[in-house]
Amino acid sequence: MNSSTFYLLFIEFFSLFVYTDATLETHHLRETLMDPVKQSHVEEYGKAPEIVASAPGRVNLIGEHTDYNEGFVFPMAIDFTVRVAITRRKDTHLRFYSVDYKDRKRATLPTLRFRKEDRWANYPKGIISQFLERGHPLGGMDVTIHGDIPQGAGLSSSAALEVATALAIQDLYGIEIGREELAKLAQKAENEFVGIRSGIMDQFISRLAKEGHAMLLDTRTLAYHYVPLSLKGVKILITNSKVPRVLADAEYSKRREECRLCVELLSPRKPGTALRDYSASDVRDSMGLIPEATRKKCLHVVEENQRVLEAEEALRKKDLLSFGKLMNRSHESLRDLYEVSCPELDWLVKRAWETEGVYGSRLTGAGFGGCTVTLIEEDAIPLYREHIVQYERIFGFRPELYICHPSAGARIVENRVQSA
Ligand code: GLA
Repeated sequence: MNSSTFYLLFIEFFSLFVYTDATLETHHLRETLMDPVKQSHVEEYGKAPEIVASAPGRVNLIGEHTDYNEGFVFPMAIDFTVRVAITRRKDTHLRFYSVDYKDRKRATLPTLRFRKEDRWANYPKGIISQFLERGHPLGGMDVTIHGDIPQGAGLSSSAALEVATALAIQDLYGIEIGREELAKLAQKAENEFVGIRSGIMDQFISRLAKEGHAMLLDTRTLAYHYVPLSLKGVKILITNSKVPRVLADAEYSKRREECRLCVELLSPRKPGTALRDYSASDVRDSMGLIPEATRKKCLHVVEENQRVLEAEEALRKKDLLSFGKLMNRSHESLRDLYEVSCPELDWLVKRAWETEGVYGSRLTGAGFGGCTVTLIEEDAIPLYREHIVQYERIFGFRPELYICHPSAGARIVENRVQSA
């Protein structure tokens, strides 16, 4: 066994025990030693893929439930990815193979439609359908999917699958489409084909992320810029609560609806088309005009927008204390005003707040389970682990910790069409 194989096995072994230092090196090693998606593609279809694309998951540092209100978000890509391998066919058949689910699905181009029983395959099907809708003539394809983004954890494995599929198809068929436009296409596939009305954040960061940086994105104009995350001795630590996100989709739609109602009630007083157009005082002054439960939710959105801008400023000044405090306030607001937290996430966040060496901690993503994100001194990680040791006994879920490196956006891993 050579030393890199040993290192890889060591990492694989270590990750079984809850603690994954998902560093870039690990992934580059995996890439050079073996490419499971390619190998599986060959085994499944008896031919090498013509193209392999990879897209990352994401963690949002601050700015939650603001994207569908045309506000600001501050995500970074993480070093967990989904890979999609494709070979073109001469007919109109589509075959999908998921290495992780050991599951196969079929479809054809002329009869492409959402089918509940196709579960994970609806995402690549949605992407194909978007390309067709835009008038790009695609042929049949054999598709293999493999990823290491924790499933159902709110780290955007579905957006990564959409983006990786879209990038692979774009490159394979030589379709001219900008990176922003590709993110929009992927969001549209999720909204219209899969039927989940998510915002643009996940697809956008998965496509456009820059290594070593977080991204401040204005979801109204899609103007964005990168902010360096050079955090000496400080880590972005994700804690996966493992709480199944059963309520997430229904509650997400309800929150969207409440935000829409709020705008409808506020706009006769002050013109606006989204909560982005309103300030905290507009919402505070609307007592009696908007039902109290809805008003609380809107207050979260408008204040969260402000927090994102302040957090960016703090990070630019390398003021991690202020950045961390804003993360904490964001969590309180998601818990008390927007009401998307749960006892498990609150417990994990509280233990983090009590740990010396933690700057800030909050739930990340849509909520109702999923993950927390914590800004923490590297040396304090063992102490935090001790603080959460009772979690499994109390809640019955075994948490996982991932130290994440701000990673690059989607890329082509291999294109045999061009090099042939
Ligand atoms: C999910 C959605 C995003 C965003 C977040 C909440 O991840 O996909 O668009 O709305 O929830 O901030």
